[in-house]
Amino acid sequence: MRWQVVGDHTELSSVAAGLLLAAVREKPTAVLGLPTGATPEGMYRNVIAACRRDYHCFSKVSTFNLDEYVGIDSSHPASYRAYMQTRLFDHVDLAPGNIHIPDGTAARFLSPSRTESEALDMECSFYEQTISDAGGIDLMFLGLGTNGHIGFNEPGSPFTSRTRRVTLTESTRLANAPWFAGEVPREALTMGIGTILESRRIILLASGAKKRDAVARLHDQNQTEAFPASALQSHPDVLCIVDRAAM
Ligand code: GLP
Repeated sequence: MRWQVVGDHTELSSVAAGLLLAAVREKPTAVLGLPTGATPEGMYRNVIAACRRDYHCFSKVSTFNLDEYVGIDSSHPASYRAYMQTRLFDHVDLAPGNIHIPDGTAARFLSPSRTESEALDMECSFYEQTISDAGGIDLMFLGLGTNGHIGFNEPGSPFTSRTRRVTLTESTRLANAPWFAGEVPREALTMGIGTILESRRIILLASGAKKRDAVARLHDQNQTEAFPASALQSHPDVLCIVDRAAM
């Protein structure tokens, strides 16, 4: 794991955006893994600003988001689909068919013979297959939960886990409460840790004092399923970009 310490969130956002755009320039058909949350918002703002200054072609790029809440659809302002539309997708020339986010309302498509749980499981298998059909993820961006979660892989998630339905911890629901006017969903669909580890390159972003403990554990702790991000220690190409407040 390599570490790059930057001054603040502004610098982190600009460095991360530069790496995202460089990956697209080098490989116009790049397959990107994308996170949500407050941390990558500045990265997306910088990508959009760069695209307004100069044409950057995203027309052959594919994206796979890490996760989505179960039971809320794209019209919900706190859905990750809505987050991505407003913060990136509406502003670059990505082909709509190349954008992928797990559908937490897959249950809508239930046939009378399928349970909600079967429909969501099918959505997860389909997501895995779609990643594989795209040739795997070239560059995965990750945020870091205060409890060490990556995507929505909460403590205890197996390092071999695949895309699946998970229950959110109370601490994660509390951390994500500011995004919701009402109750935070109790479940989500998330790429698994095993899925994430198959990405060819990974860039983890962490910013702010509230991430200090998690960053210290990621830096110092041996691998343990009790701290999901520690799974990244075995990956051959991980860069952690961390600002000073988080160190
Ligand atoms: C959510 C997301 C994660 C993200 C984490 C950190 O739980 N599912 O993918 O990394 O929040 O978010 P933030 O950047 O807001 O601290």
